[in-house]
Amino acid sequence: MKSSKDLVGLRFLSSREISDLVKETLSLKKSLAQSSKPKPSLSWRTFVTLFFEPSTRTRVSFEIAIKLMGASAVLITKESSSVQKGETLLDTVLNLQAMGVDGVIMRHPDGGSPAFIAKHLKIPVINAGDGFHEHPTQGLLDLVTMTEKLGSLKNKNVLILGDIAHSRVARSNIWALTKSGANVFVSGPLTLIPADIQKMGVTYVGDLRTIVSKLDVINVLRIQSERQQAGFFPSIREYRHFFGLTRDKLQDAKPELLILHPGPINRGIEIDSEVVDGPQTLILDQVQNGIALRMTVLKHLIEDKT
Ligand code: NCD
Repeated sequence: MKSSKDLVGLRFLSSREISDLVKETLSLKKSLAQSSKPKPSLSWRTFVTLFFEPSTRTRVSFEIAIKLMGASAVLITKESSSVQKGETLLDTVLNLQAMGVDGVIMRHPDGGSPAFIAKHLKIPVINAGDGFHEHPTQGLLDLVTMTEKLGSLKNKNVLILGDIAHSRVARSNIWALTKSGANVFVSGPLTLIPADIQKMGVTYVGDLRTIVSKLDVINVLRIQSERQQAGFFPSIREYRHFFGLTRDKLQDAKPELLILHPGPINRGIEIDSEVVDGPQTLILDQVQNGIALRMTVLKHLIEDKT
């Protein structure tokens, strides 16, 4: 992060940069818990959250992080922007930069769009999810949540379960976890697994029950139906039967197995309610950690450089 103006993907960060961000986030979280008022280190700054896809967690989390640091956030959606009138995305963001905005946080259905925009802007661009490419702050907050419970992730066994092919969260998790020394497994219908996934240093498992006893973490993903053009599996019922995280598939799991999900969750499809509401599930811890993580990212990209 020291060398880069933007955060477009975890692929481009070193293991050291990733572990520093995780450590700093955990210490910021501790200090936020002790004194409820963080110092407004970004006061009078303005950020645009440019969200061209639906979002609850990521957008609100960025906006809260921005406000906690004393800055303000302006939301632009596709419907409310001049892109709707035929303007290009690049022209839109050049106008925002001309207004003196200090940074753009963007979510876009097209993979690569934050990297393209970042190249043309002087101000930092943070990728809040681009197509099925990357979602770096989600990958980092997942890593923070796992590290908080497990300490070092070296040689820990982590399974990412579900629609790997259409998931930016899967890709950012794979980069973050492999750079942290974890053993990463992926599982899901073969039609939802990229053919060359092992090139990313992960192992495919057809039936999670064959490895469940040695797993430390399962990160469950939603089926990204909005990004699928054809039927990748026969029915939701069949998907749940083979790949949904149900209690019976966890019979042989260690009692301390951690269960994560980036949200939004679809209960009864990729994960059963019994599992969601069980004691090992960290879904809301992930959401909570997202605030401190995003504050840490903003500190690195803005505060430390000005
Ligand atoms: C994810 C996303 O939008 O990429 N959610 C999130 O940001 N927390 C995952 C998803 O939509 O399934």
